[in-house]
Amino acid sequence: MGKPSSRSGTFKEGLAAVSATGHSRLGVNVDHVATVRNARGGAHPDPVRAALLAAEAGADGITAHLREDRRHISDGDIERLMSQLRVPLNLEMAATDEMLKIALKYKPHAVCLVPEKREERTTEGGLDVAGQHNHLAPYVRELVGAGIRVSLFIEAELSQLDASKSLGAPVVELHTGLYCETPVGPAREKQLKRLEVAAAHAAKIGLECHAGHGLGFDTVEPIAAIPTLAELNIGHFLVGEAIFVGFAPAIARMRAIMDAARAGLST
Ligand code: PXP
Repeated sequence: MGKPSSRSGTFKEGLAAVSATGHSRLGVNVDHVATVRNARGGAHPDPVRAALLAAEAGADGITAHLREDRRHISDGDIERLMSQLRVPLNLEMAATDEMLKIALKYKPHAVCLVPEKREERTTEGGLDVAGQHNHLAPYVRELVGAGIRVSLFIEAELSQLDASKSLGAPVVELHTGLYCETPVGPAREKQLKRLEVAAAHAAKIGLECHAGHGLGFDTVEPIAAIPTLAELNIGHFLVGEAIFVGFAPAIARMRAIMDAARAGLST
């Protein structure tokens, strides 16, 4: 997420942003703290408190997905995150007029546009940027125009990267779900290769590249080792692991695995 100043996203700037910090940034997604809260309809556990704790524990930014059905994060959570967070907020949202209005009201550091189907349990696939070019263009334009760093959540396909670039989005986030779900072995290696090729292509065409979805301690290392990935967004695993070891230790361990991977050390 970094400083909200650099918007142009050239290859050199992208790499400089990565190497300046020496690690890929960790965005902690607090959606599922809200899922647990909402199960009882009260105020506990509070995703904003979790976000503040995550920042203290080493998160470089906080990610939250305001869904159309508000099944986890609420509008009030976004308002409180904006007023209390001292690290950047990455708001995930669908490309709809309702969400655009909310993003323009709060002006988070970043907006990640994601596909959203009401019946899905989680974000199932990437945006079809190539196929939805005309639908997405005005949303990207308005958000970029408001000074918000826009990223598009896509599958690791070169056509989707090229379409994202032509749309004027400075950032893409590669969907790591398929890689994480594929059993260890040649098929998993193939998915990893796809992500590596896509991340290299993103850098080549001047897009800052992020990745996320489904990552855990067992899957994050080779992803964090990809040199042109500037940021990983991780939520569900960390919130689950918090039950066993606590949120801060889970985040600290994730941070350590990511840093070791970037430094070429295996944990
Ligand atoms: N990145 C994006 C764009 C997402 O939609 C999600 C899930 O909300 C994540 C990252 C985090 O995925 P997970 O909760 O599986 O770590």
